[in-house]
Amino acid sequence: MYAQMVKSTGTGVKSTEEMSAEERAFQARIDAGEKIEPKDWMPEGYRKTLIRQIGQHAHSEIVGQLPEGNWITRAPTLERKAILLAKVQDEAGHGLYLYCAAETLGVSRDEMTEMLLDGRMKYSSIFNYPTLTWADMGAVGWLVDGAAIMNQVPLQRTSFGPYSRAMIRVCKEESFHQRQGFDIMMKMAQGTPQQKAMAQDALNRFWYPALMMFGPSDKDSVHSAQSMAWKIKMNTNDELRQKFVDQTVPQAEYLGLTVPDENLKWNEEKGGYDFSEPDWEEFFEVIKGNGPCNTDRLAARNKAWDDGKWVREGLMAHAEKKRARKMAAE
Ligand code: 3HC
Repeated sequence: MYAQMVKSTGTGVKSTEEMSAEERAFQARIDAGEKIEPKDWMPEGYRKTLIRQIGQHAHSEIVGQLPEGNWITRAPTLERKAILLAKVQDEAGHGLYLYCAAETLGVSRDEMTEMLLDGRMKYSSIFNYPTLTWADMGAVGWLVDGAAIMNQVPLQRTSFGPYSRAMIRVCKEESFHQRQGFDIMMKMAQGTPQQKAMAQDALNRFWYPALMMFGPSDKDSVHSAQSMAWKIKMNTNDELRQKFVDQTVPQAEYLGLTVPDENLKWNEEKGGYDFSEPDWEEFFEVIKGNGPCNTDRLAARNKAWDDGKWVREGLMAHAEKKRARKMAAE
C-alpha cells in the first residue's frame, strides 16, 4: 500500500488518483507481492528504472573483477590463488546473469556495454579505489562483498521476476566471497605486527568507500521513493548502511582492528551504532568519473571490448554461415 499513501508532491511517486487504470492494476499486483515477468504490462518508468539498476549492477560485477584480478598473479599461496581465481570468475558469472535479466526488458548486452564504455551508465563507486596490498583482498571480500550482500539479500524479493531469481544464486556465492575475505583478514590480523598493520591499513582505506556503496543519504537519493513503491528496492540507502555498520563493527572488534571513526558509538536507544557519514563530496566526484581509478577502469574495459571485436565478428560470421547452410538444406 506504500504507493497509495505517498502523495506525488516531492517524491515523484504518483498517488492512486493520478494513476491510469493500467498503472493502478500494476501497482495492485506489486502491493500484493506478485512477481512481474518480462511479457507483463509495465509502466515505462518501471522498465527504465530496472534497466538502469540491473545494468549498473551487471557493470559493477564486470568492472569489479579488475581490482581483484590485479592480485591473482601475486596471491601468497597456490590455495589463495585458486580461491581468488574462482571468486573473480564468479563475478563474471554474476555479470552475465544480470545482463540476461536486463535483456528481458528489451535492451541488448551490447547496448548496455556501449553505455558503460561511453559513460552513459554507471558502475559501483567502490571499484574506483585501488587495491594496494594483499590485505586489500581481505578487505574487499569482507567489506565490499559484505556490503553487496546486505543490499542484495532483500533484492531476492524484488518485484521483477528475472532479477529476483538471479539474486538468489548471486547471494549464495557472495556469502562465500565475504567469508573468504574475512578469512584473509583473520590470517593477517593474527599474523606478524606488519601483517596486522596491513590489515588495519586496508580497513582504514576501505571503510568509508564501503559505506558509500549504499548510495547517497536518503535525503539526496533521487530514485528511492519510486523504486521502493515499485519494490525494485526493498530498503532505503540509509537503512542498509546502518545494518551494515551494526553487523560489521563487532566483526572488526573480533579481528582486533579499529574502525576508523572517532564518532562510532553504540546507541542503546536506537539499538544501533552512531557513526560518521562518508565524505559525500568525494562520493559525488567518484561517480562523476573523478575517482582515483575511474580512468584506468574504463580504459581496461574499452581495451577488452576493442580487443574482442574480431572474436565477436568471427562468431557472428560463423552463426550466419550455419544459418545459411541450414536454410539451403531445408
Ligand atoms: N556507485 C555509483 N553510483 C551510485 C552509487 C554507487 N555506490 N549509489 C548511487 N549511485 C548513483 C545512482 O545510480 C543514481 O545515479 P543515476 O540516476 O545516474 O543512475 C544516483 O547515484 C542517485 O542515487 P539513488 O539512491 O537515487 O540511486 P538508486 O535508487 O539506484 O540506489 C543503489 C543506488 C543502492 C546502488 C541501487 O541502485 C541498488 O541497490 N543497486 C543494485 C545493487 C548494485 O548495483 N550493487 C553493486 C554493488 S557491487 C557488486 O555487487 C559486485 C560484487 O562483486 C561486490
